[in-house]
Amino acid sequence: MSEEFIRERIDELRLAINRHNSHYHQYDSPQVSDAEYDRLFRELQELEQAYPAFRTPDSPTERMGAEPLKGFDPVSHEVPMLSLDNALSDDELIAFDKRLRERLDTERIEYLAEPKLDGLAISLVYEHAILLRAATRGDGQVGENVTRNVQTIRSIPLKLNGKKIPQFIEIRGEIFMPKKGFLALNQRCRATGMKEFANPRNAAAGSLRQLDSRITATRPLDFFCYGHGVFVDQLRPKSHWKMLQLMRSWGLPVCPEGQIVQGIEACREYFQRLQEKRVALDYEIDGVVYKVDNFALQERLGFIARAPRWAIARKFPAEEALSVVADIDVQVGRTGALTPVARLRPVEVGGVTVTNATLHNADEVRRKDVRKGDTVVVRRAGDVIPEVARVVMEHRKPGASPFAMPSRCPICGSAVETVAGESTIRCSGGLACPAQHREMIKHFASRKAMDIEGLGDKRISQLIERKMIDSVADLYRLDVDRLKGLERMGRKSAENLVQAIENSKKTTLARFIHAFGLRDVGEATAQLLEQRLGSLEAIMDADEDSLMELPGIGPVVARNIRHFFDQPSNRKVTEQLVAAGITWQAVRTIKDTLHQPLAGQSFVLTGTLDSMPRDQAKQELKKLGARISASLSSKTDYLVVGDNPGSKASKALDLDVEILSEEDFLSLIR
Ligand code: IVH
Repeated sequence: MSEEFIRERIDELRLAINRHNSHYHQYDSPQVSDAEYDRLFRELQELEQAYPAFRTPDSPTERMGAEPLKGFDPVSHEVPMLSLDNALSDDELIAFDKRLRERLDTERIEYLAEPKLDGLAISLVYEHAILLRAATRGDGQVGENVTRNVQTIRSIPLKLNGKKIPQFIEIRGEIFMPKKGFLALNQRCRATGMKEFANPRNAAAGSLRQLDSRITATRPLDFFCYGHGVFVDQLRPKSHWKMLQLMRSWGLPVCPEGQIVQGIEACREYFQRLQEKRVALDYEIDGVVYKVDNFALQERLGFIARAPRWAIARKFPAEEALSVVADIDVQVGRTGALTPVARLRPVEVGGVTVTNATLHNADEVRRKDVRKGDTVVVRRAGDVIPEVARVVMEHRKPGASPFAMPSRCPICGSAVETVAGESTIRCSGGLACPAQHREMIKHFASRKAMDIEGLGDKRISQLIERKMIDSVADLYRLDVDRLKGLERMGRKSAENLVQAIENSKKTTLARFIHAFGLRDVGEATAQLLEQRLGSLEAIMDADEDSLMELPGIGPVVARNIRHFFDQPSNRKVTEQLVAAGITWQAVRTIKDTLHQPLAGQSFVLTGTLDSMPRDQAKQELKKLGARISASLSSKTDYLVVGDNPGSKASKALDLDVEILSEEDFLSLIR
């Protein structure tokens, strides 16, 4: 078969499969039998396997997922992914509107009101209309590259279709799991003995952060877009609403509940209406987002810190339920922090069974005066850890005694210390405290760090007690013979554990740094360090000043990092780990070159321009990558209209081609 023939067949198969997909998913009316569909799909897979040169990222076969990854690469967001300010009451919403009206000196503001979707923020980069990269929000500056997983989500187009698609655009939106899909997934988990997910948001997060995209492909994820990141300004519609309509025209799903509302009264009515509709929607929402619709006004308002001044989230009230405190325990964490935890009689709060609630710290317990036996209001807001909101004093049993934090560590008996300015009490035992020691190793082995499967609480305690490990470097010296003698450990499990430890050696620099468990250095900061400093040596040797130059790293975190790597014992363990064979790949970043902002856009010019001859105008557009054609068609993106334009202008209206005045044109080329 000639290559040309193969390519044609591949194109044909892709078209057919895409058509069947839309009939099946969008219109609910399949046009072929499952068997026929499978046959086409397999043929395409086989051809692509035999002719890898013809594989493209928009092929429907990409939806199936691929070989597992070892970790996610960090991605730096060109335009930071911001968060939203919250209005906790109607009054705060009214104050927001008043503030904006004063700044803009206007009577009434047009807002776009839409549900606050309870999922995960995602950034989708389309270059030449093809989905090239998908990244999580991370800390807003640096996220994770989850492209392989996102390609498996059916409602996210692998290729945009339609007009006025810029050569480079970043779409922002929310990935979530519909309620129905969530229930079905948990049913599947129950049937196969897997752990169930606590709520749709967790299920969505867990599914999106799968290293094996073939697993993600089996999860019912969905998506709505609500905004954009990088986008060449001049080509942008004039308002958020119009932008959403344009994105919808490209095949991107937009939440149908969004609506333009005029002024604050209408905002409140929308909130009421949506709250009533909430249970009936097939996806979880936790409030309303109000955005100033007009882009020019948004720009005038700008940003404060990490949130835009032109938008606000009004959350639905938190969900609450009554329970009884069976006991108050004190947990010792990895950094020695003592956290009081209320053990509760199990209670349903917003669809989730809660048995523990954090009491945060000694100050909080004192402030709320929570005592054993108390009836309490338990509150859960979104993905926040459940907490005890308040005690129902009328139900307090006589003789209940106030809770006091211990003066010695409940695990190792070391004295506790209070740090000036912090409400946290810490065990002073350091790694001599079995709890801290265990938590530190547990963190090192955890999924988001070195990801050593099967190394849980009990196993770690056992290994420490038997003196088989002391530092994390000792893990890499364990062998099957020594392990298989342990209680509840046969040869097979010993082999599995050794294999899991071996597998963990291939990792990413960010995971490795995160695994050390430095105070205040979480995943996002570790990724930032990897992305900006690039190598372990550079991170270990960076001084506090250069660390503080990195976005989001302040003096305290800089000092913690420096302090950690100044300890000879920490340097030694790090070196031992590297010597044991822990490796990672060099860091990659994506470059989005915007030097040809009009590439892929087709222009027609008509009439005479005041500022320059038409030929020069064409040259200017070509320099920016635009295609110029002589006649209008439905494929034309823009018509530039000068004086005495003739019939083209009216034809453009019929063809729904956007018309640019000379002024628009000049601002575009500038
Ligand atoms: S707009 C700068 N619109 O809320 C604008 N965000 O607190 C920020 N979210 O990380 C995004 N629904 O994940 C926007 N309709 C919506 C949203 C929404 C949910 C999430 C988003 C973001 C977080 C900000």
